[in-house]
Amino acid sequence: MKALIVYHTKTGHTEQAALDVARGLESCGVECAACAAANAKAAADISEYEILAVGSPTYGNRRYRLPARQVSDFLDSLSSGKLEGKTCGVFTVNAGWGGEKLAGAMERALEVLGGHVVGKSPVVKAGAPLSLWKGPDASPSDVSKCEEFGKKLARVANG
Ligand SMILES: Cc1cc2nc3c(=O)[nH]c(=O)nc-3n(C[C@H](O)[C@H](O)[C@H](O)COP(=O)(O)O)c2cc1C
Repeated sequence: MKALIVYHTKTGHTEQAALDVARGLESCGVECAACAAANAKAAADISEYEILAVGSPTYGNRRYRLPARQVSDFLDSLSSGKLEGKTCGVFTVNAGWGGEKLAGAMERALEVLGGHVVGKSPVVKAGAPLSLWKGPDASPSDVSKCEEFGKKLARVANG
Protein backbone atom coordinates (compact mmCIF):
# COMPACT_ATOMS: atom_id res chain seq x y z
CA MET A 1 0.00 0.00 0.00
CA LYS A 2 1.25 3.50 -0.86
CA ALA A 3 0.58 6.93 0.64
CA LEU A 4 1.23 10.42 -0.71
CA ILE A 5 1.65 13.30 1.72
CA VAL A 6 1.32 16.74 0.15
CA TYR A 7 2.16 19.75 2.30
CA HIS A 8 3.27 23.34 2.27
CA THR A 9 5.73 24.79 4.74
CA LYS A 10 7.59 28.04 5.22
CA THR A 11 9.31 27.66 8.57
CA GLY A 12 9.40 23.86 8.69
CA HIS A 13 6.70 22.89 11.20
CA THR A 14 4.22 21.50 8.67
CA GLU A 15 7.01 19.55 7.01
CA GLN A 16 7.88 18.09 10.41
CA ALA A 17 4.20 17.18 10.96
CA ALA A 18 4.21 15.49 7.52
CA LEU A 19 7.24 13.42 8.58
CA ASP A 20 5.48 12.50 11.83
CA VAL A 21 2.37 11.33 9.92
CA ALA A 22 4.68 9.41 7.53
CA ARG A 23 6.38 7.66 10.46
CA GLY A 24 3.00 6.41 11.67
CA LEU A 25 2.05 5.17 8.20
CA GLU A 26 5.41 3.48 7.70
CA SER A 27 5.18 1.73 11.06
CA CYS A 28 2.12 -0.01 9.57
CA GLY A 29 4.02 -1.07 6.47
CA VAL A 30 2.76 1.71 4.17
CA GLU A 31 5.23 3.07 1.63
CA CYS A 32 5.22 6.88 1.88
CA ALA A 33 6.14 9.69 -0.46
CA ALA A 34 6.11 13.27 0.79
CA CYS A 35 5.91 16.12 -1.70
CA ALA A 36 5.83 19.91 -1.42
CA ALA A 37 2.45 21.13 -2.66
CA ALA A 38 4.08 23.52 -5.13
CA ASN A 39 5.63 20.52 -6.94
CA ALA A 40 2.87 17.99 -6.40
CA LYS A 41 0.88 18.67 -9.55
CA ALA A 42 3.85 17.89 -11.76
CA ALA A 43 5.61 15.32 -9.58
CA ALA A 44 2.86 13.04 -8.37
CA ASP A 45 0.46 10.83 -10.28
CA ILE A 46 -2.11 10.50 -7.58
CA SER A 47 -3.67 7.39 -9.07
CA GLU A 48 -0.80 5.22 -7.78
CA TYR A 49 -1.64 5.98 -4.14
CA GLU A 50 -4.34 4.47 -1.94
CA ILE A 51 -3.86 7.11 0.78
CA LEU A 52 -3.58 10.89 0.47
CA ALA A 53 -2.74 13.19 3.40
CA VAL A 54 -2.68 16.95 2.92
CA GLY A 55 -1.06 19.41 5.33
CA SER A 56 -1.00 23.19 5.52
CA PRO A 57 0.07 25.91 7.92
CA THR A 58 -2.85 27.95 9.22
CA TYR A 59 -2.68 31.42 7.70
CA GLY A 60 -6.20 32.70 8.22
CA ASN A 61 -6.89 32.80 4.47
CA ARG A 62 -10.56 33.67 3.91
CA ARG A 63 -11.15 33.37 7.64
CA TYR A 64 -9.66 29.88 7.86
CA ARG A 65 -11.67 28.49 4.95
CA LEU A 66 -8.61 28.09 2.74
CA PRO A 67 -5.20 26.50 3.28
CA ALA A 68 -1.93 27.98 1.99
CA ARG A 69 -2.20 28.99 -1.68
CA GLN A 70 0.14 26.17 -2.80
CA VAL A 71 -2.16 23.62 -1.12
CA SER A 72 -5.29 25.26 -2.58
CA ASP A 73 -3.70 25.14 -6.04
CA PHE A 74 -2.92 21.46 -5.61
CA LEU A 75 -6.50 20.68 -4.52
CA ASP A 76 -7.88 22.79 -7.39
CA SER A 77 -5.77 20.74 -9.81
CA LEU A 78 -7.64 17.55 -8.85
CA SER A 79 -10.76 16.88 -10.84
CA SER A 80 -14.05 15.90 -9.25
CA GLY A 81 -14.12 12.23 -8.22
CA LYS A 82 -10.31 12.00 -8.43
CA LEU A 83 -10.10 10.81 -4.81
CA GLU A 84 -12.82 8.17 -5.17
CA GLY A 85 -11.76 5.02 -3.32
CA LYS A 86 -8.87 6.74 -1.53
CA THR A 87 -8.43 7.11 2.20
CA CYS A 88 -7.72 10.78 2.90
CA GLY A 89 -6.71 12.91 5.84
CA VAL A 90 -5.60 16.43 6.60
CA PHE A 91 -3.40 18.10 9.20
CA THR A 92 -2.55 21.67 9.98
CA VAL A 93 -0.11 23.62 12.11
CA ASN A 94 -1.14 26.82 13.85
CA ALA A 95 0.47 29.03 16.43
CA GLY A 96 -2.67 29.18 18.53
CA TRP A 97 -5.97 29.66 16.72
CA GLY A 98 -7.90 28.88 13.55
CA GLY A 99 -6.44 25.44 12.92
CA GLU A 100 -9.60 23.52 13.83
CA LYS A 101 -11.67 25.55 11.40
CA LEU A 102 -9.12 25.19 8.62
CA ALA A 103 -8.86 21.43 9.20
CA GLY A 104 -12.67 21.17 8.83
CA ALA A 105 -12.56 23.16 5.59
CA MET A 106 -9.77 20.97 4.21
CA GLU A 107 -11.65 17.79 5.19
CA ARG A 108 -14.68 19.03 3.25
CA ALA A 109 -12.55 19.91 0.21
CA LEU A 110 -11.24 16.32 0.08
CA GLU A 111 -14.74 14.92 0.55
CA VAL A 112 -16.02 17.00 -2.36
CA LEU A 113 -13.30 15.39 -4.51
CA GLY A 114 -14.66 11.96 -3.55
CA GLY A 115 -12.17 11.02 -0.82
CA HIS A 116 -13.07 8.90 2.18
CA VAL A 117 -11.96 11.35 4.84
CA VAL A 118 -10.72 10.11 8.19
CA GLY A 119 -11.75 12.64 10.83
CA LYS A 120 -10.16 13.94 14.02
CA SER A 121 -7.46 15.64 11.97
CA PRO A 122 -4.39 16.64 13.94
CA VAL A 123 -4.08 20.35 14.67
CA VAL A 124 -0.52 20.95 15.81
CA LYS A 125 0.51 23.98 17.83
CA ALA A 126 3.88 25.35 16.71
CA GLY A 127 5.45 28.48 15.30
CA ALA A 128 4.71 32.13 15.88
CA PRO A 129 1.46 33.93 14.99
CA LEU A 130 1.50 36.12 11.89
CA SER A 131 5.23 35.84 11.67
CA LEU A 132 7.95 34.07 9.76
CA TRP A 133 9.96 33.71 12.94
CA LYS A 134 10.24 29.93 13.42
CA GLY A 135 9.00 30.03 17.01
CA PRO A 136 8.49 27.00 19.27
CA ASP A 137 8.39 23.44 17.98
CA ALA A 138 5.44 21.09 18.41
CA SER A 139 5.05 19.41 21.79
CA PRO A 140 5.79 15.68 22.12
CA SER A 141 2.04 15.07 22.45
CA ASP A 142 1.37 16.83 19.13
CA VAL A 143 4.16 14.81 17.52
CA SER A 144 2.56 11.59 18.69
CA LYS A 145 -0.89 12.86 17.62
CA CYS A 146 0.44 13.08 14.04
CA GLU A 147 2.09 9.69 14.28
CA GLU A 148 -1.13 8.11 15.59
CA PHE A 149 -3.06 9.79 12.79
CA GLY A 150 -0.73 8.14 10.27
CA LYS A 151 -1.44 4.77 11.88
CA LYS A 152 -5.17 5.47 11.75
CA LEU A 153 -5.01 6.29 8.03
CA ALA A 154 -3.24 2.98 7.45
CA ARG A 155 -5.81 1.04 9.52
CA VAL A 156 -8.78 2.61 7.71
CA ALA A 157 -7.19 2.04 4.28
CA ASN A 158 -6.58 -1.58 5.16
CA GLY A 159 -10.29 -1.94 5.96
C1 LIG B 1 1.11 35.19 7.18
C2 LIG B 1 0.90 34.31 8.37
C3 LIG B 1 -0.36 34.21 8.94
C4 LIG B 1 -0.56 33.40 10.06
N1 LIG B 1 -1.80 33.32 10.62
C5 LIG B 1 -1.98 32.56 11.71
C6 LIG B 1 -3.27 32.48 12.33
O1 LIG B 1 -4.24 33.11 11.91
N2 LIG B 1 -3.41 31.69 13.43
C7 LIG B 1 -2.35 31.01 13.98
O2 LIG B 1 -2.53 30.34 14.98
N3 LIG B 1 -1.13 31.06 13.40
C8 LIG B 1 -0.92 31.82 12.29
N4 LIG B 1 0.32 31.86 11.71
C9 LIG B 1 1.40 31.03 12.26
C10 LIG B 1 1.60 29.74 11.47
O3 LIG B 1 0.41 29.00 11.35
C11 LIG B 1 2.63 28.86 12.18
O4 LIG B 1 3.80 29.62 12.37
C12 LIG B 1 2.98 27.59 11.45
O5 LIG B 1 3.85 26.82 12.26
C13 LIG B 1 3.69 27.82 10.14
O6 LIG B 1 3.89 26.59 9.49
P1 LIG B 1 5.27 26.23 8.79
O7 LIG B 1 6.36 26.21 9.86
O8 LIG B 1 5.06 24.90 8.20
O9 LIG B 1 5.56 27.28 7.76
C14 LIG B 1 0.53 32.68 10.62
C15 LIG B 1 1.81 32.77 10.02
C16 LIG B 1 2.00 33.57 8.92
C17 LIG B 1 3.38 33.68 8.32
